[in-house]
Amino acid sequence: MKVFQIGAAGGVGRRLTQLLAARGDSVTGMHRRTDQGETVRESGGTPVAGDLINDSVDDLAQKMRGHDAVVFSAGAHGTGSDKTTLIDGKGLRKAADAAVLAGATRFVLVSVFPDALRGGEAGEGFEHYIKVKKSADVYLTCTDLDWLIVRPGTLLDTPGSGRVTAGPAVEYGDVHRDDVAAFIDAALHEPALSRVIVELTSGDTPVADAVARLAV
Ligand SMILES: NC(=O)c1ccc[n+]([C@@H]2O[C@H](COP(=O)([O-])OP(=O)(O)OC[C@H]3O[C@@H](n4cnc5c(N)ncnc54)[C@H](OP(=O)(O)O)[C@@H]3O)[C@@H](O)[C@H]2O)c1
Repeated sequence: MKVFQIGAAGGVGRRLTQLLAARGDSVTGMHRRTDQGETVRESGGTPVAGDLINDSVDDLAQKMRGHDAVVFSAGAHGTGSDKTTLIDGKGLRKAADAAVLAGATRFVLVSVFPDALRGGEAGEGFEHYIKVKKSADVYLTCTDLDWLIVRPGTLLDTPGSGRVTAGPAVEYGDVHRDDVAAFIDAALHEPALSRVIVELTSGDTPVADAVARLAV
């Protein structure tokens, strides 16, 4: 499979590139900063520079052409509400439109639990982030793409266990970036897991079993 990854030098993106490359997939990793090209290469991907803010839909489509699938794990990562709107919101819309133009029909979006950090600890910027991510989910679900939306809990950098809880509605919790990447790696290769939203936390079910159960 030829996979085009947006956010490839990020925490989830790096891990996913490694897994896909290890199974023999060809990964093109889009990165924003020049120095991130090396990170993509070290993970086993082919770097391509790109910017969700500055690139047009046509620019992105040109980069995506020839790929079977797109994975979007980019994000503004707390750099301000305007950036959240441009990257997590408009950036996702551009990427989805570009995938349609490029004929890259499989599209996996890393989203977020709408109930993340409920309970008063979330500030204005975080509330904006949640709204933008939800609108991005809505946009993607209205396309004809073969989409999959993965909503991870709070991401952890510590080593994953390879075990998760995954389903259309799951109690909010933490999840390791390792396990998010493992879930997307397996899900990309399970065509039956299509046009669904999956919430994902750490749990007791091996990733492969979790994907297989959701695919029936
Ligand atoms: N943090 C959490 O607990 C949490 C929970 C649930 C869901 N999520 C979601 O999970 C996703 C992945 O998380 P992560 O930990 O992998 O994030 P990350 O490490 O911040 O990686 C995001 C990547 O996106 C890139 N990016 C940002 N703006 C871009 C642009 N304009 N054009 C192209 N690339 C751009 C970043 O590059 P730069 O280094 O240049 O900025 C970075 O490499 C995000 O979408 C996030 O919203 C996060």
